[in-house]
Amino acid sequence: MGFAFTKKNLAIIEGILKKYPEDRKTSAVLPLLDLAQRQNDGWLSPDAIEAVANFLNMPEIRVFEVASFYNMFNLKPVGKYHVQICGTTPCMLRDSENIIKTCENELGIKIGETTKDSLFTLSEVECLGACVNAPVIQINDDFYEDLSPESVKEIFQKIKDGKKLKIGSQMNRQCSKATSC
Ligand code: FES
Repeated sequence: MGFAFTKKNLAIIEGILKKYPEDRKTSAVLPLLDLAQRQNDGWLSPDAIEAVANFLNMPEIRVFEVASFYNMFNLKPVGKYHVQICGTTPCMLRDSENIIKTCENELGIKIGETTKDSLFTLSEVECLGACVNAPVIQINDDFYEDLSPESVKEIFQKIKDGKKLKIGSQMNRQCSKATSC
């Protein structure tokens, strides 16, 4: 299926490109890929990559190289909720393995898979940069921190029930303060 930026995104791209000197427009490849991915249900199809390449007058392979380097870009379809579980050492020390197991059991899929209803995709990722509140998962653009198997189950249930989610610490910690503060 072809990909073309929407009118709204074309206006955003115009604003993005203004930030770069005329001979450095290719530096806008990251924000354009991000925009393309958001428009394309969370992943970059070959057509979306081609659209970015055409826009920036870059060889498609160069754009693909960038897209395949950063793990925030998905090169295959993902579910409506992309659940990225941090498995790096600080989260691992705070039992991220149990968080991974809980996610897999709750959703009935393994890491790297998408549920049949295309609602959830599970990925394991490296440090999300919120280690102080480990263990951490990222769902789409939001972080969920200080997790326990129970809070993970609650998050998935709320998503399934269409309820509002509590972003950030799941144990009412303020930012990264110790709970006793
Ligand atoms: S190690 Fe998990 S957020 Fe840094």
